[in-house]
Amino acid sequence: MPSHPTATQVQDPFVAWFRQATPYIHAHRGRTFVIAFGGEAVAAPELGGLVHDIALLHGLGIRLVLVHGARPQIEERLAQRGAEIQYVNDLRITDDAALACVKEAAGAVRVELEALLSLGLANSPMAGVRIPVASGNFVTARPLGVIEGIDHRHTGAVRRIDHRSLQQRLDDGAVALMPPIGYSPTGEVFNLSATDVASSAAAALGADKLIFLTESAGLEDDQGRPVSNVLAQDVPALLAAPAPPPKEIAACLRAASLACRSGVRRVHLVPRQVDGALLRELFTRDGIGTLISGEPYENLRPARVEDVTGIMELLHPLEQAGILVPRPQERIEADIGRFFVMERDGTSIACAALNPYPAEATGELACVAVHPEYRNQGRGDKLLSHIESVARGQGLRRLFVLTTQTAHWFRERGFEPGGLTDLPAEKQALYNYRRNSQVYVKTL
Ligand SMILES: CC(C)(COP(=O)(O)OP(=O)(O)OC[C@H]1O[C@@H](n2cnc3c(N)ncnc32)[C@H](O)[C@@H]1OP(=O)(O)O)[C@@H](O)C(=O)NCCC(=O)NCCS
Repeated sequence: MPSHPTATQVQDPFVAWFRQATPYIHAHRGRTFVIAFGGEAVAAPELGGLVHDIALLHGLGIRLVLVHGARPQIEERLAQRGAEIQYVNDLRITDDAALACVKEAAGAVRVELEALLSLGLANSPMAGVRIPVASGNFVTARPLGVIEGIDHRHTGAVRRIDHRSLQQRLDDGAVALMPPIGYSPTGEVFNLSATDVASSAAAALGADKLIFLTESAGLEDDQGRPVSNVLAQDVPALLAAPAPPPKEIAACLRAASLACRSGVRRVHLVPRQVDGALLRELFTRDGIGTLISGEPYENLRPARVEDVTGIMELLHPLEQAGILVPRPQERIEADIGRFFVMERDGTSIACAALNPYPAEATGELACVAVHPEYRNQGRGDKLLSHIESVARGQGLRRLFVLTTQTAHWFRERGFEPGGLTDLPAEKQALYNYRRNSQVYVKTL
């Protein structure tokens, strides 16, 4: 016989998941996100799932601008006419035949997306949802012109975005749809890159996020590991690396760094083919894609009183395991000025403290802790070198640490075994012989 769940039973993962998503639901409400995806996403069988996720974001009060590409749809139409689009230095040349295909393809994609966003059948995931969709002449474009003697004809670049009209539509509760097409004051139509439209729209709107749903898996380091954070200032170096990222990712990175410089706080590259990728990126702490931001996403800074709870959460399990000496909350509060925390999305994921003994030009490195989920990625190193530079700035010439289980970590970072006499007198008097910690010292 099935039993009713009781309060003592293991927590239901659905409930746990929903609860952990709460801060993100609050944080995203009323924010403006520009989401860009290629025509491949529109042609893919997973389009229904993507539109469903977009409808969910809209339902959570997020103001959405969708920018779509139409490359496969354009190429299909050109192929039917026995033509193809020409590229010079990765820039396309849109002749009259290509422009006709661009218009047709953009129109067809728009109708398809509008149809899916209108789906509201009782047995579908979007039952009872009514999403107004707005599109129009939001983009003013100019011709790319003649580059190195080659006329790019109807290929254009974004000149300006009518952000007031866009905001108006978003205020009215609509999802805005932007094709890779722009219009010039001379009444011409230009074929644009969706990446250009998306980053220009995000910048003009002052969007909170610009999200590129990419066809490829995403940005990887030289050993093939996914890269989860990039600073906009590091993008040029990434693009100039001996093994630069694939073309699609490189274009998104360029657009991302431009958007960050224009005030967009966060740009995300999210692999489109992963089911629910958008939701995972937006509603879990670590996401699944690459975040490009103007400021460090993980902020190492002096602790404030509000950080006491976060610090205690980091230290408590280590105190229980005997790795750290227990410290009551009042002591952490009193010493908060000596702590540094590494914060990720509002959560403390690492901390350390520097207790100075100025008379001896010595400092104690204490409470070094990295959250278990974030270890082995160099955060400990970062904390240590930060504390060392703060200590140097305070005129200290040596750092010491008392440790029971982490001796080798410190030794590998230049600490030498020491003795009780290496400690400041005040610290020697407090030494706990039962704990039998080892002393390690580093000259700064
Ligand atoms: C020690 C600690 C701060 C390191 O943080 P981190 O962000 O994982 O550190 P880094 O990424 O810079 O370094 C990771 C390296 O340290 C090694 N390491 C981790 N803990 C270690 C330990 N107790 N002894 C020796 N080496 C250790 C890892 O194996 C890894 O080395 P590898 O890449 O060669 O395998 C973290 O493991 C931690 O919080 N530990 C529990 C608290 C603690 O021991 N604090 C010190 C109290 S005195």
